[in-house]
Amino acid sequence: MVKVAPSILAADFSKLAEDVSEIEKLGADWLHLDIMDGHFVPNISFGADVIKSLRRHSNLFFDVHLMIENPDQYVPDFVAAGADLIVVHAEACKHLDRTIELIKAAGIQAGVALNPHTPPEVLEFVIHKLDLVLVMTVNPGFGGQTFNAVMMEKIKDLNEWRAYGGLEFLIEVDGGVTAENARELEVVGADVLVAGTAIFKAADRSSAMRRIRGEDV
Ligand code: DX5
Ligand code: ZN
Repeated sequence: MVKVAPSILAADFSKLAEDVSEIEKLGADWLHLDIMDGHFVPNISFGADVIKSLRRHSNLFFDVHLMIENPDQYVPDFVAAGADLIVVHAEACKHLDRTIELIKAAGIQAGVALNPHTPPEVLEFVIHKLDLVLVMTVNPGFGGQTFNAVMMEKIKDLNEWRAYGGLEFLIEVDGGVTAENARELEVVGADVLVAGTAIFKAADRSSAMRRIRGEDV
């Protein structure tokens, strides 16, 4: 069954620990943490200290999505803060292979995110090292944007590549995920669905999460 990773970008920042423990109790699989630096993306979110604080309140798998320039400089801080997986953007890394090695050497999982315009082929010579590929289905920077349906093809391509190449990376989808597009995403090969608005802004977060996961509600 597909995993659901609620993104706290859509949570109430004045009571983050409460919001996180609520979705943890409701059965979230992972917690998605969006780090934005105001340079790689036109928005600023929060940094490693917030993750460090939340780590004391949660046992969830921390999926840290770095939308920042020069990620190598900050990887050690996010590892120390308690990340279980660090995802960097292919577009932000001059030496992507080195960055992946840096994350793996810290003993945690490594993933690479692809902006909508970036083809999966940029990963050809590093894909065997990756635990996860994140397909951006919006231009990164903000929650609450509309899902880009053209990305279904990219997910399909990655899924075929994985099957024919005997590879094991997970495919994560981020941006505009809802209960309405979740089933098609699962069919084309998504393993982890990030959802911010669709969960945190829902009147019934429990039912929203179960509907995205595809459970009968
Ligand atoms: C966008 C972030 C997403 C965002 C998703 O740049 O990477 O993780 O929080 O939010 P929704 O689900 O509202 O599109
Ligand atoms: Zn994200």
